[in-house]
Amino acid sequence: MVFSGRCNLYTAAITGTGAYLPTRIMTNNELESVVDTTDEWIVSRTGIKERRLAAPNEATSDLAYHAAMKALESAGLAGADIDAIIVATVTPDMLFPSTACLLQSRLKATKAVAFDLSAACTGFVYGLELARHAIYAGTWRHVLVVGGETLSRIVDWQDRNTCVLFGDGAGAAVVSRGEDGTHLGTPLMRARILGVHLGSDGSQGDVLTMPAGGSRTPATVESVLARQHFVHMNGQEVYKFAVRIVGEAAGDLLAKLGLGFGDIDYFIPHQANLRIIEGFTKRLKLAPEKVLINVEKYGNISSGSIPIALHEFAPTFKTGQKIMLIGFGGGLTWGACLLEW
Ligand code: ACO
Repeated sequence: MVFSGRCNLYTAAITGTGAYLPTRIMTNNELESVVDTTDEWIVSRTGIKERRLAAPNEATSDLAYHAAMKALESAGLAGADIDAIIVATVTPDMLFPSTACLLQSRLKATKAVAFDLSAACTGFVYGLELARHAIYAGTWRHVLVVGGETLSRIVDWQDRNTCVLFGDGAGAAVVSRGEDGTHLGTPLMRARILGVHLGSDGSQGDVLTMPAGGSRTPATVESVLARQHFVHMNGQEVYKFAVRIVGEAAGDLLAKLGLGFGDIDYFIPHQANLRIIEGFTKRLKLAPEKVLINVEKYGNISSGSIPIALHEFAPTFKTGQKIMLIGFGGGLTWGACLLEW
């Protein structure tokens, strides 16, 4: 579903962003001593040169906390100002309590509703949509949306097909309410959300899974020995899905907003891997300089990749520019969000 938001009493805008990457860098050369791979293979197939790994004592809520503190600071807010915390993650600290509740406690966001959201690499875009509609409804005024992952804990370090692809990190955004259908009119305003388009296709969910650890296959000695608690992926099917769905998600959103691809100044896609990004850039005939990429530094951080890239590239955006975020991933799920800076 797509809502332009133009008829609403309120507007919703990103008023602050933040990101946190663990300090430990794992290069492709280091990976050569872990699995049978080469820097040349990884770079040529994925564009990834290095990734970050969480410290042994860091979990997703720790990465999320650092990203959230930066986002709050840049929005000029404190934890106590936040009405809701949405953490998009497939690597929660534990199944419950939610990572969002753990984060709420550390942020001292005592009045906030807190919950996790499971939409894999599209999770941050899903979170923006929830925040936007709660703001339109007048329910919440300031929503903290976080995408954060410690994927290094669920990749199989014996499987060269997957372990070279992923990394750890978190990104966050504060989404705030503007009054009377206008921009917030404050220097804190970064980007108004013009529209969002989301989709899901559960019938293809088996191309990307972590089979065990839930109610279907609880943790047992057998499930651990069978390596069922790690990421399992059909890489070629994921590749085909990703290259196709980006155009559909973006095109559907643009059509509803009465815009075309030429109206967009920058695209921030989910940073899955460079070949996927190059694949849809070519297919959609996008100018490569409009497609923002940082996957070479971090690998694929699932729900963290879009908010981290948004935070990193934000200083280069100018007033009036249109930025499209495009997520796609496990579920299968996808989503596009258009921002006006
Ligand atoms: N190092 C060296 N060789 C490798 C490695 C590695 N790390 N991984 C796989 N290979 C080998 C395979 O074993 C295979 O060898 P074989 O021919 O002897 O069997 C060979 O390389 C080719 O394997 P393919 O799977 O055909 O390689 P392909 O060209 O398809 O590239 C890749 C694999 C990069 C995973 C590709 O399918 C892809 O980009 N898929 C998308 C997956 C992805 O990005 N997932 C991220 C999570 S999903 C998301 O974020 C939406």
